[in-house]
Amino acid sequence: MLKFIHITDTHLVGRNEALYGTDPSWRLKACVEDIRAAHADAAFCIITGDLADRGGKATYEIMKEILAPLPMPVHLMVGNHDSREDLRAVFKGAFDDGNGFVQGKLETAQGVFLMLDTIEPFRHEGVFCERRAAWLAQALAESGQKPVYLCQHHPPFPVGIAGDDRLSILDSKPFVDAVTPHWNRIRHMFFGHIHRPISGSWRGMPFSTLFGTNHQTALELTPYLSVEKALAEPDDTVWGSPEAPHYGVVLITEELVVVHQRSFLTGPQRFKL
Ligand SMILES: [Fe+2]
Repeated sequence: MLKFIHITDTHLVGRNEALYGTDPSWRLKACVEDIRAAHADAAFCIITGDLADRGGKATYEIMKEILAPLPMPVHLMVGNHDSREDLRAVFKGAFDDGNGFVQGKLETAQGVFLMLDTIEPFRHEGVFCERRAAWLAQALAESGQKPVYLCQHHPPFPVGIAGDDRLSILDSKPFVDAVTPHWNRIRHMFFGHIHRPISGSWRGMPFSTLFGTNHQTALELTPYLSVEKALAEPDDTVWGSPEAPHYGVVLITEELVVVHQRSFLTGPQRFKL
């Protein structure tokens, strides 16, 4: 069985600095402590972007310090709040697809993880251009008949929250074209950006996302699932929520992909039922 940790949207700021009333560094430290205590046997950890709230080398240095105690490799991806350059200045081994995008492959006993870069500097919506799609198409072709898992920051579909759907991958055609010949081999898509625990399937492809480790998006649903309608909404407010954070613990066998959510602010407390 493969076990790995999924964390997303850590939004780190300066030392001892609060963001929306909570300290992102303190919360990420609590998350790391909980993983060390409860899931130190995980093979690796993936963080699906928005690592820093405003980019910045100093912030990625803080992140490096906080993540250092984790016993497993940590794979970092970029979100719309990140800076590729600042990230690479601090994390020298960050993914690079050869075209400057933070994209890469991770081979495991349960198949290939493809890490995708969906950001465009100075924009919050997701972008997955033809160059990135060409890399994805080639990586999929090279993976033969192995199972594939996609990891990325922005989803290429709406989830029913206008504030998020306006900022999804607005033109998903290059992505869809690259993935279509391999659709049945994609066992799961893991993404971030939404700051809510959501699971489901997209044209048969299973997906899941999680709360961020600092702040959340409120569950303010639209009466439709449509990026176009979300873009036409006159009010572009994104509503936040103080719901408690968690991280994902993912278990994969030949037959199953199971995604658990672990709250980490309550510590190791438990009781007999
Ligand atoms: Fe975020």
